[in-house]
Amino acid sequence: MVKIAPSVLSADFAHLKEDIDTIYDGGKSWIHYDVMDGHFVPNISFGYSILSNLRAVTDLFIDVHLMITDPGQYLDEFINAGADLITFHIEAVSSVQEARVLIQRIHDAGCLASISIKPGTDVEAIKPFLDDLDMVLVMSVEPGFGGQSFNPAALDKITELKEIRNGRRYLIEVDGGINENTANLCRGAGADVLVAGSYVFKAENRQEAIDSLK
Ligand code: DX5
Ligand code: ZN
Repeated sequence: MVKIAPSVLSADFAHLKEDIDTIYDGGKSWIHYDVMDGHFVPNISFGYSILSNLRAVTDLFIDVHLMITDPGQYLDEFINAGADLITFHIEAVSSVQEARVLIQRIHDAGCLASISIKPGTDVEAIKPFLDDLDMVLVMSVEPGFGGQSFNPAALDKITELKEIRNGRRYLIEVDGGINENTANLCRGAGADVLVAGSYVFKAENRQEAIDSLK
């Protein structure tokens, strides 16, 4: 069964706990936490202080998506704030070695580690790390904003990641423009985790919206 990860980027930041409680889904869903620094992406969201506040009021699995330049600089803060899984962007690191060190630091802290690729980046860029990753995040929009349209090029990447998995443990997550129709395509291609921001939080009945993606 596919996992749904509602993105709190589309929640009401003044009522985060209430909004999370509406997507509880019997504890099965994750929370997708989009961190934007105004530099790696042209938008600013929230940082690790709000993450630690959230951690204190939910036991849901928190999937932290770092859209920041130099992710190593703030890794410990997000780990200590209570992330369960941390995704950084391959485009935000400058060498294979740097990415390996980040994965190791995340694992040493007891978190799961994931790398994301933007729409313009091929799966090839993360092949050196696939043995060590718990998840790969395929962006189906340019990172930075909720509410954009799904780019179907993500489907080929999902298919490729599934085909080359060969018993490795990594999950395949897709993020951006997920609704009932695109969720269907992503599940068909082999995605394991679907991030959905506006589709879930703008819905009148959020539980129904979540169920319609499964
Ligand atoms: C975009 C973020 C996404 C965003 C998805 O940069 O990484 O997680 O919240 O929003 P929707 O589902 O509205 O496209
Ligand atoms: Zn995201």
